[in-house]
Amino acid sequence: MTLKAVIIPGDGIGPEVTKAVLRIFDKAGAPIEWIEKKAGVAALADGPDVLPAATVDAVREHTIALKGPCTTPVGEGFTSVNVQLRKKLDLYAAVRPVRNLPGVKTRFSDVDMIIIRENTEGLYSGVENEVSPGVVMSMKVATEKACTRIARWAFRYATHRQRKKITVFHKANIMKMTDGLFIRCARDIHREEYPNIHYDELIIDAGCMRMVQDPSRFDMLLLENLYGDVVSDLCAGLVGGLGVVPGANIGDDAAVFEAVHGSAPDIAGKGVANPLALLMSGVMMLNHLRDTRRDDSFDGPAVAIKQAYNQALADGKTTGDLGGSLSTEQFADAVIERLNG
Ligand code: NAI
Repeated sequence: MTLKAVIIPGDGIGPEVTKAVLRIFDKAGAPIEWIEKKAGVAALADGPDVLPAATVDAVREHTIALKGPCTTPVGEGFTSVNVQLRKKLDLYAAVRPVRNLPGVKTRFSDVDMIIIRENTEGLYSGVENEVSPGVVMSMKVATEKACTRIARWAFRYATHRQRKKITVFHKANIMKMTDGLFIRCARDIHREEYPNIHYDELIIDAGCMRMVQDPSRFDMLLLENLYGDVVSDLCAGLVGGLGVVPGANIGDDAAVFEAVHGSAPDIAGKGVANPLALLMSGVMMLNHLRDTRRDDSFDGPAVAIKQAYNQALADGKTTGDLGGSLSTEQFADAVIERLNG
């Protein structure tokens, strides 16, 4: 039995890394039938919308999608595809596992953490206006509902994944109401529902300093939207960069899996992008399907793909961002060659 899932190649390096990932999924026998939909600059060929309604409807219908990155032109009146998609489908929990990988040498060798980012509000509320000529304002929005929801989601996830500790990064010393609400909700959920998980808080500037000194002290991070966006990239830098960090955006009714990186216009079209982050996001998708559909047929391909990319990396088969010389497709070939052990 195959399952229908939406594939959104996106733009920039998106179509290149997507093609490589779909080839690996196919060779690994992943039981997925892909429904391709457009978003980002690629969608502008068909109409004025960077996120066409047909794309949102398809994800809503099939409830699961793998997405390539989409460019958001700076200051040109486009609302980010990613922000729109997360809001329209209420994909409130972003999950970003950050781990050392075999063969990828970095300053630290003991990084293993999961970042949970609130995806729907904070400074990304999209509420911006010109108060008077020369004075503009962005509204940081925090609601008790969303803060409680993400805190509960994070603690439940920690319990399922046998994680021991959640750390909240915040700036409640300055933003007493918004970040104050965020930490109050996290404290309440911890105290009332998950007292067995260790909980602590750090003011974000000090938290970032400690992170780059000793990331091994962190297990799971819980952050509001903007902090989660920034800290995800910082943490990606600890394990080899944006080419190796996957992600998921999960709501109660749908889930969209995508790499943390963007459309990388500086290397787009050159065939050198690392497809690993999207591949790892695809493996997260298979694991999510296994857990939510209680169907083990997703497990075999997920395990095989993970073993194959770990082996490829351990054998020194890497793209330029990790110091190697393979093209996107050559890296995909290296993974495919290792699929059967
Ligand atoms: P970026 O992540 O696209 O690129 C940052 C740097 O990392 C660049 O030097 C790029 O070449 C490198 N890089 C990123 N992914 C790579 C990969 N797979 N392999 C090798 N090198 C890789 O971030 P940037 O430049 O800030 O954003 C470019 C565009 O992407 C913007 O329009 C932004 O809005 C959008 N974006 C989209 C996201 C999404 O669709 N989920 C997420 C982040 C940014």
